[in-house]
Amino acid sequence: MLKILIASSIAPQAIENLQVQHDVVCAFGAQDGLLQSLIPDRQVLIFRSGVQITAEVMAAAPDLQLLIRAGSGLDNLDVDYVRRHGLKLVRIPEPGAKAVAELSFALMLTLARRVLEADRLTRQGRWAKHELTGYLLTGKVLGIIGAGNIGSRVGQMGAAWGMEVLGCVEHPSPAAEARLRQRGIRLASCEEVLAAADYLTIHVPLKASTRNMIDATALARMKPGAFLVNLARGGVVDEAALYQALTAGRLRGAGLDVHQAEGEGKISPLAALPNVVLTPHIGASTFDSQGEIGTRVIETINAFEVEAPGSAVEDPRSTADRVAF
Ligand code: MLT
Repeated sequence: MLKILIASSIAPQAIENLQVQHDVVCAFGAQDGLLQSLIPDRQVLIFRSGVQITAEVMAAAPDLQLLIRAGSGLDNLDVDYVRRHGLKLVRIPEPGAKAVAELSFALMLTLARRVLEADRLTRQGRWAKHELTGYLLTGKVLGIIGAGNIGSRVGQMGAAWGMEVLGCVEHPSPAAEARLRQRGIRLASCEEVLAAADYLTIHVPLKASTRNMIDATALARMKPGAFLVNLARGGVVDEAALYQALTAGRLRGAGLDVHQAEGEGKISPLAALPNVVLTPHIGASTFDSQGEIGTRVIETINAFEVEAPGSAVEDPRSTADRVAF
């Protein structure tokens, strides 16, 4: 029996399953103080975004051995601490990637076809058929900032949609070029992607090199009238600069699933703009993806229980988005 702390909401079925054999404490979204008070006797920590797994939190748990990131991003984890202390870390990025890629398309289509505005007016009895002309995706340029695990899926969908797809990666190489070409994506520089895109979709992890990478300078490179969607992390896009670009009419619209400030009660400054669609970091939140993640969490814990102490645990099916930034 393992002592497990689940710090973020995962599939209820998986939690019930774990509770049968293990001592499970759930504290979804717990912040530092509460996490530190719950973690001291725990051996396993399961988490998603929305919680900060700091060195202080982990240092409060002398028996901690295994961390399971039930998703992709590591920006809320002190990875150096994990390495220094030889803790095992398992990411489960694949199931959520499918859902994030689909939401990217949903946001692009919502913006292009003005779906929210159309819905609102129609509910009010306004028949705004002639005021609600939109734009096609077909035949347009899709630009991907970060054509890794998630971004290249979006690119593949764009190619199937009849879009011309360009993507950039942190470390361009012939291998990356070939891998992207197979998905219908042409490898390009970030500058070229920014300048060519009618629709720009952002899929880089948040780290020092990507913080505010889509700033006023990057936005100024973009095609007038382009749409931008961000399903990476709020910190990648300078929201103040984006606000300016949208109010100046330089960009036609933005769809944001991630925000500089996230959580209950937080309202994005971009909420004031009509040409913006906002969602609360639900990219990976499909029953399908979360169900699959839950199954893999259980498999990971089962593997951990039988493995020799000190050996590494890897999700055999995860191909971490190493190619992206
Ligand atoms: C992720 O990085 O996997 C996503 O942000 C989903 C999440 O953890 O909530």
